[in-house]
Amino acid sequence: MKRLIIFIDRLLYLHQCNDGCSRFWSLRKWLGRSLFLGAFVLANCFAALGQHVLPTPLKTELLSGTYQFGEKLSVGYSGKEKEVAKYLTGRLKAYVIIKRTSNTSSGIQLQLTDLPQEFGKEGYQLKIDEKAIRLKANTEAGLFYGVQSLLQLLPAEVQAGKEYSLLGYQIPGVLITDAPKYAWRSFMLDSGRQYQTPEFIKRYLDHMAMLKMNVFHWHLTEGQGWRIEIKKYPKLTEIGSKVAEGKEQQGFYTQKEIKEIVEYARKLHITVVPEIDVPGHSEAALTAYPELSCFGEAPKTVMGFSDVLYCGGREETYTFLKNVLDEVCELFPSPYIHLGGDEAPKGKWNKCPDCQGKIEEEGLKNSHELQMYFSSRLANYMKTKNKKVIFWGDVIYQDDFKLPDNVIVHWWNWRGHKDLALKNAIRNGHQVIANTNYYSYLNFPVSPWSNYFADRTFDMRTVYENNPSDIKEPDSLVLGMGCALWRDWYVYEHMVDRRVFPRIFALAEQMWSRGERMPFDAFYRIVKEKYPVLREKGIDIGPGMKDEIESDFSWE
Ligand code: ACM
Ligand code: ZN
Repeated sequence: MKRLIIFIDRLLYLHQCNDGCSRFWSLRKWLGRSLFLGAFVLANCFAALGQHVLPTPLKTELLSGTYQFGEKLSVGYSGKEKEVAKYLTGRLKAYVIIKRTSNTSSGIQLQLTDLPQEFGKEGYQLKIDEKAIRLKANTEAGLFYGVQSLLQLLPAEVQAGKEYSLLGYQIPGVLITDAPKYAWRSFMLDSGRQYQTPEFIKRYLDHMAMLKMNVFHWHLTEGQGWRIEIKKYPKLTEIGSKVAEGKEQQGFYTQKEIKEIVEYARKLHITVVPEIDVPGHSEAALTAYPELSCFGEAPKTVMGFSDVLYCGGREETYTFLKNVLDEVCELFPSPYIHLGGDEAPKGKWNKCPDCQGKIEEEGLKNSHELQMYFSSRLANYMKTKNKKVIFWGDVIYQDDFKLPDNVIVHWWNWRGHKDLALKNAIRNGHQVIANTNYYSYLNFPVSPWSNYFADRTFDMRTVYENNPSDIKEPDSLVLGMGCALWRDWYVYEHMVDRRVFPRIFALAEQMWSRGERMPFDAFYRIVKEKYPVLREKGIDIGPGMKDEIESDFSWE
């Protein structure tokens, strides 16, 4: 029996081989060589063991030998690898671990070293043979991603943080060489429309780490709620966090909670990039401080967006936003800050004497250029703090106004403008984050729900095969890829998992994996092998395809 398991494990790794060809083809070649031995049995064994690493590593090679866990495990590291070692041993709960502050020839060894340049800042090499599990990287981030891959080779219970002894557990010999496609791999959560608890957010940060995502884009302000405590302007949370009526629409994050979340993320090698969306999507802030709108009106709370913007003409707006950003920058060490800029209709600005006065004074052409002036002023202010500023693609649909060079464009509106923002950004030398609504908005369900009609749905195959953000040969200005979970139409916490899983695996694959893609059916089969792990983690997995939707299923 033991020999059979080792044999099957070996096949698993062959199946994973991705050395210039997809795993599917490797498997086919192997099957050819092995006279088509038991393909059906194999498929079932793969599913049962569920040991593939996702996102798919760059290269996986089979080695001779098998590592077997004993009664005790030594984890060797020197001072530099301490934090990763602590993370790893924390994940192997209830297993007897001896930590050694120098590397030994057995057990798990973590080593920061000089790997070739191709490994970059996040690559790693994981070598498993009968003697040891050796993990090497240039940086702690690389080691951390190697640990994520190693964890995926362990039983579901261990991956889920349950108490579980590894005594006798075997991993077949393997050499994994891996590095990501993109430096930016983000998940955006809309905490503006609906508030989520810090515990929920930490859980999602853990999921991101499993998927090797490294940027938590935190959308903190919306028409439906202002969620970040700003000490200088207490009404932002006293009033702004309660403007909507839904049960999960009350609440905000104190500065203490935010610091804890940023620190929690840091340990997972995730940068938290806050978004303060201006000048639109700001009705909650303007309900708290109506004097900052063009006509001093407290706006109606809207689920989408309205033309009640911060007044772009009065200096008070700029003073207020700079003061807010001073506190935001203190809370978030990220080198990036997101300042929105999407969906800001200019109806009020066109009529406002102050806005029109500013247009004249600054020699601008119209209200659109006033937004460019507004955005540029804030971006230049952020430059004084060494921050890059991200704006949604709306700021570059017309590109005759030169934006500051610290601006990054967040390409989103494929449905409305196809690749206009991508092209204009590149033409103007700005970096770009690809996060198109088709198909990286995970709030779009697989089948219609509430105000999400059929044209705002997509399935797992569509995102895997047809996501415009999944650029085959990206320009060097493409910084990376993102995905987003907006919370409009009352996507409450308990509905989120079903939206996100399993489709986020396809997005993570597109963000990380550099090799040639395997065909969808092979990929989806591997994703399904992860379901026992996801269930152990308490994730409520939704349907990936329409034909998987049972008659009694509900998105609610
Ligand atoms: C967006 O979806 N309004 C960025
Ligand atoms: Zn105005």
